[in-house]
Amino acid sequence: MTITTLKQRSLLGLKDLSKEEIISILDRAAYWEAQPDKVKPVLQGKFVANMFFENSTRTRFSFEVAEKRLGAEVLNFSAAVSSVQKGESIYDTVRTLESMGIDAGVIRLKPIGVLADLATKIKVPLINAGDGNNEHPTQALLDIYTMRKHFGELKGLTVAIVGDILHSRVARSNLWALQKLGVQVRFCAPPNMVAADLAAEYISMEEALKADVIMMLRVQLERHENGMIKSAEDYREHYGLTVERAQRLAPHAIIMHPAPINRNVEIDDELVEHPQSRIFPQMENGVPVRMAVIERALV
Ligand code: NCD
Repeated sequence: MTITTLKQRSLLGLKDLSKEEIISILDRAAYWEAQPDKVKPVLQGKFVANMFFENSTRTRFSFEVAEKRLGAEVLNFSAAVSSVQKGESIYDTVRTLESMGIDAGVIRLKPIGVLADLATKIKVPLINAGDGNNEHPTQALLDIYTMRKHFGELKGLTVAIVGDILHSRVARSNLWALQKLGVQVRFCAPPNMVAADLAAEYISMEEALKADVIMMLRVQLERHENGMIKSAEDYREHYGLTVERAQRLAPHAIIMHPAPINRNVEIDDELVEHPQSRIFPQMENGVPVRMAVIERALV
């Protein structure tokens, strides 16, 4: 495989992906969603390694289901059971799997910049399953797929992303992709969770409730220094999607959240499965979207 095709087959982020490429992945995901058979073995004989150097349940299972539905052989490991704990570097681990003959790698890791560096050294396609607070491209693709499924047309929509923007790779990937698709993205965040590096307007919670899509983010406690939030109650009062606030959403508006959810912090328990919520459909849509991304890496 040449360097160019390797680059085209990998998915490191959405910042550098064209609008056409994004749309072609969404269209292919729609194709996979419409397939009646659970398994279509187009990747028979291909080996995919899911390498999670940071905790994950949903994303890891979603990739695994997608890979198995395409008939691939799947290898899994998470950092807790790997020799990373014994000091082996991320590079050595990925290189080890590469030398054993994997055809593609799905990777999640914490340190920023490592993935971009790895991609220059590893010769099989890599798919980013979340790198630090930089990008989480398949999450944003499934979010956008969910929006397109509900509204039909993306252009002209308004999306309010609310919460811990500073630590959110989901907000970054969504911002960069949605802007290319003609969607107006606005952020709403407590002052200490604003991301100064991102070009988006910040609005109040009242304004955010007027958007077509209100996307709530998990408060990323594991990435916080002490005292970033006063208390869960205080956060909910100022930035939570409460039952009372949700009554002010437009009837056509939808509620999204990438999960896992801190119930009754960024979103009230009763809203998670509310008729306007798309939180479980987001998870459902993650599988065909990841099938499209893995197929693009390997076929
Ligand atoms: C997101 C992540 O890991 O960045 N979750 C996910 O992929 N299911 C969002 C989050 O953890 O808050």
